[in-house]
Amino acid sequence: MKRVFSGVKPSGNLTLGNYLGAMRHFVAMQDDYECFYSVVDLHALTVPQEPEELRQQAISLAALYLAVGIDPKKSTLFIQSQVPAHAELGWLLQCMSYMGELGRMTQYKDKAREQESVTVGLFTYPALMAADILLYQTDVVPVGEDQKQHVELTRDIAIRFNNRFGEVFKVPEPLIPSIGARIMSLSEPHKKMSKSSNSMGDIHLLDEPNVIKKKINRAVTDSEAVVRYDPENKPGVSNLLVIHALCSGESVAALEERYQGQGYGALKKGTLEAVLAVLEPIQARYRQLMASDEIYDILAAGAAKAREAAAPTLKRVKEVMGLNL
Ligand code: TYM
Repeated sequence: MKRVFSGVKPSGNLTLGNYLGAMRHFVAMQDDYECFYSVVDLHALTVPQEPEELRQQAISLAALYLAVGIDPKKSTLFIQSQVPAHAELGWLLQCMSYMGELGRMTQYKDKAREQESVTVGLFTYPALMAADILLYQTDVVPVGEDQKQHVELTRDIAIRFNNRFGEVFKVPEPLIPSIGARIMSLSEPHKKMSKSSNSMGDIHLLDEPNVIKKKINRAVTDSEAVVRYDPENKPGVSNLLVIHALCSGESVAALEERYQGQGYGALKKGTLEAVLAVLEPIQARYRQLMASDEIYDILAAGAAKAREAAAPTLKRVKEVMGLNL
């Protein structure tokens, strides 16, 4: 079976963007691939975190993975910091990465611009992400569009390493969904929906239904009053159409047809219904999981499996690099 690896940072409230662009695909891939999914808490440390909050968010994210449908009998679910091989290979790959290529990462440039002081970890973050992926001899990495550049860098690092030391790493492929790879903010539809912005434009997976209703009702549209998919000229309406389509399982074309001649009120009402039909059951499962201790056992078993799966690659890397005295 081919292998899948992906991760989500426990660094804020997960959004519908994380679900539609990434996690939903994680669930769909479980039957056809051997999947490793991680709560990448080491990555969250690239910006300041309150320790207790980070612990809470890591558990909450693990519960959300399960609530959206990750099945621990099929997939390995684990917390990144419980598998030390990630940090160890991360260092080794930092020594195979160049300042120039890390400095060209758009996510680094955007985040660095927003902050007064920037940690070295924020800069070297893609080398740790490469370690996450390469440790498991991963074939496919399902991600939203904003992570594509990091997966491409991972490929470059793997190829460079293999050229220098022999065929140690599998060179992974990114898997970017053809629709929903970049869910946009409802209030600023030129920006992506993001867990760190906390604005009215972001639908959080754990938002109360009345909050979601408020956010969708206030979504920015345009003055044309025609429901048409045209991301360039009608970004707000197009984003609602994509969200609606992905949540209800219909095509964008079918929805354009359905809402023909109706105002944006009808589109918003339909979008809200579709979103709630997806999120309400997830929220109910999440509440159940958070009320039980089951999650700690699942994570302990996941970390043990991940440690075992990661060990041969790290051993081989150390051998070829001359660290096996
Ligand atoms: P993170 O935590 O920012 O996001 C998790 C996943 O959600 C996707 N995503 C979106 N998709 C569509 N529309 C959006 N508005 C949207 N916002 C986020 C992201 O593309 C991502 O797939 N660096 C990664 C975590 C990571 C990782 C890895 C991923 C660490 N190591 C190894 C894959 C493989 C990140 O910060 O994702």
